[in-house]
Amino acid sequence: MTSDAYEPIETASVDELRALQTERLRATVARAYANVVQYREAFDRVGVHPEDITTLEDLSRLPFLVKSDLRDAYPFGRFAVAREQLARVHASSGTSGKPTVVGYTRNDLEMWATVMARSLYAAGARPGDLLHNAYGYGLFTGGLGAHYGAERLGCTVVPFGGGQTERQVQLIIDFAPRVITVTPSYCLNLIDEMERQGCDPRALSLKVGVFGAEPWSEALRTELESRLGIDAVDIYGLSEVIGPGVAQECAETKDGLTIWEDHFFPEIIDLETGMVLPDGEPGELVITSLTKEALPVIRYRTGDITALRPGTARTMRRLDRITGRSDDMLIIRGVNIYPSQVEAELLQVPGLAPHYQLHVGREGNLATLTITVERDPAGFAQDDASVARQAEARIKTMIGVTTSVRVVDPEAVPRSQGKAQRVTK
Ligand code: DLL
Repeated sequence: MTSDAYEPIETASVDELRALQTERLRATVARAYANVVQYREAFDRVGVHPEDITTLEDLSRLPFLVKSDLRDAYPFGRFAVAREQLARVHASSGTSGKPTVVGYTRNDLEMWATVMARSLYAAGARPGDLLHNAYGYGLFTGGLGAHYGAERLGCTVVPFGGGQTERQVQLIIDFAPRVITVTPSYCLNLIDEMERQGCDPRALSLKVGVFGAEPWSEALRTELESRLGIDAVDIYGLSEVIGPGVAQECAETKDGLTIWEDHFFPEIIDLETGMVLPDGEPGELVITSLTKEALPVIRYRTGDITALRPGTARTMRRLDRITGRSDDMLIIRGVNIYPSQVEAELLQVPGLAPHYQLHVGREGNLATLTITVERDPAGFAQDDASVARQAEARIKTMIGVTTSVRVVDPEAVPRSQGKAQRVTK
């Protein structure tokens, strides 16, 4: 095990880690019960008192927290501190209805900057590096989260945010950053733009890419690494828990996301029954914050599907690459399918570019799936129809679902500035 970590706790013994988690869990549960009426009512309903929680296993006696619980408290109704003690708020862009508002005390912002610095270090960033931050600034947690983490680590930050792709590429060429933080889908747009401006992306200065905020596939890692000449690693987080920096893939192993367990305790549950599953089994990730002050989350159902694995580069456990959210799962003629699985197959078909969208339609009672994907402008000339048939055959064999693939011109699929919208209905 490497000892080259940002903080000693990352490589502490499992016993030391479990002891710390237990102590922090007890304090969190007690504080939530004392300061948040909704927690007190929910714990009372199941008849569990904070004193009953003495071990990590006891956590499973407590009820889940779900997104609608947070939304129902809009805007400031669930904080464990007075509004005046919040140093900042963020909000997630609710696709329907009200957004979910999250808040941070000064200590929370400190902790967040530290876990983000830890994440960037694990990704391969080092003090003194120039870091180009293309995560969106504002209410979204990506921009400011990465920003303060990078400053904490000692990087020089270029706070670009999303959009203005041409200018963004110009600055990357001129400033020569070593590290980029960006969604994988937007990075593809940056690479296309670099090529359009006549430069070879591999010849640029970038060496490390820290990609997250949306599901992406192993095939896309290969594509990003080979086109940019970088190491591409995965970063995970969600605003309800803190933002980016909940879990980070280590550059030395690239084998899934180490979850920073001293601050965020993970459980995996069965989607249907809510029962806790043993490590290694796939299910929904549930997170309990262990140190947050303003918005403690106890057994928050993330909706994200993954599995827990033993630690490798760090003592802390790892998450498998996140296939998608349970509510992004499509059911097409009885087959469960996530957009990231389709991405992985499309990228194996020569002649296709990694710009795609899925459209779910109906034929009578049956759901149908149409995939619109761009032709690779640099690919060999093949006719679109035969490339489409190859893609359909591959998806049928590998995922088991019949789809209709339409190959379209470069630039025909809408581009993301941040998180890509993969599915239309
Ligand atoms: O996306 C925080 C973030 C910013 C993470 C920058 C990484 C980098 P939200 O907008 O609240 O926060 O969205 C959180 O995005 O529940 C997942 O469904 C998805 N997600 C985030 N990271 C990954 C990832 C930010 N690496 C939601 N792989 C989460 C797959 C991801 N999905």
